[in-house]
Amino acid sequence: MGYLSFFLSSLLVLATLHGILAVEYVVTNSAETTRGGARFNNELGVDYTRQTMVSASNFVWNIFQQSNEAERKSVPRVSLIVEVMEGIAYAINNEIHVGAGYIEGIKGDIKTDFNGVLYHEMTHIWQWPGSNTPRSRNLTEGIADFVRLKANYVPDGWVQPGGGSHWDAGYSVTARFLDYCNGLKDGFVAELNKKMRTGYNDNYFVELLGKTADQLWSEYKARYGN
Ligand SMILES: *[C@@H]1O[C@H](CO)[C@@H](O)[C@H](O)[C@H]1NC(C)=O
Repeated sequence: MGYLSFFLSSLLVLATLHGILAVEYVVTNSAETTRGGARFNNELGVDYTRQTMVSASNFVWNIFQQSNEAERKSVPRVSLIVEVMEGIAYAINNEIHVGAGYIEGIKGDIKTDFNGVLYHEMTHIWQWPGSNTPRSRNLTEGIADFVRLKANYVPDGWVQPGGGSHWDAGYSVTARFLDYCNGLKDGFVAELNKKMRTGYNDNYFVELLGKTADQLWSEYKARYGN
C-alpha cells in the first residue's frame, strides 16, 4: 500500500472509530402545545438541553473517574423527551423523560432547577446498575443526587447534612451520607460505582472504608449531633 492510500485508510478508520465512540444526544419536545412545553422552548430549548447533556456526561465521568471509553458504560445515543406525564423526570433505556408540568411549575431560576434534574438523570444513564434490590436501587438514587450535589444544583427541600433516618433511604439522605464517606476517602463514590458494575454487596463499604455502612452512619450522625 502506498503512503497516500495508507494515510487515507487511517483517516477512514479514525473517522469510523470516532463515529462509534461519540455519544449522540437527541432532544425532542413532544409537548409544544402545552404551557410547560412552550416554556421549555422559550426559556431552555433543544440546543441548550443538548449542551447541558454533554456537560453533565463529562461531569459524571469525571466524578466516576472514568477517563476513557473502556471504563464507561457503552451508550451510543441518549434521548431526552419533554412530554405530558406525571412527575418530574425518569431515565429508562437510555431515554430521559421530563414532565412538561414540572417545567411549567419551576419556581426560582429555571436553569438551576432543570440542570439539577438533568445531572441526576444523566447519572442514571452512566452509572453501573448494582443489583435489583430496594437497598441497591436507593443507593443508585443516592449516587445520582450526590452528583447533583457536587455540581452545586441542590434544590429546596433536600435534607441538610446529617439529616434522615437511615443511610439507605435514597435521594438526598443517601447523597449527603455519600458526601461524608467521600470526604473520608476521596474517590470513594467512584470506587463504589465501579464495584456496582457487577452487583451490590453491603461489604463494599467495609472493603473501601474499613467499616460497615451502619457504623459509618452512626459516626456521621454523631458528627452532626443527631
Ligand atoms: C428505599 O427508599 C424508599 C423510599 O425512600 C424507602 O421507603 C425504603 O425504606 C428505602 N430503603 C430500602 C432498603 O428499601
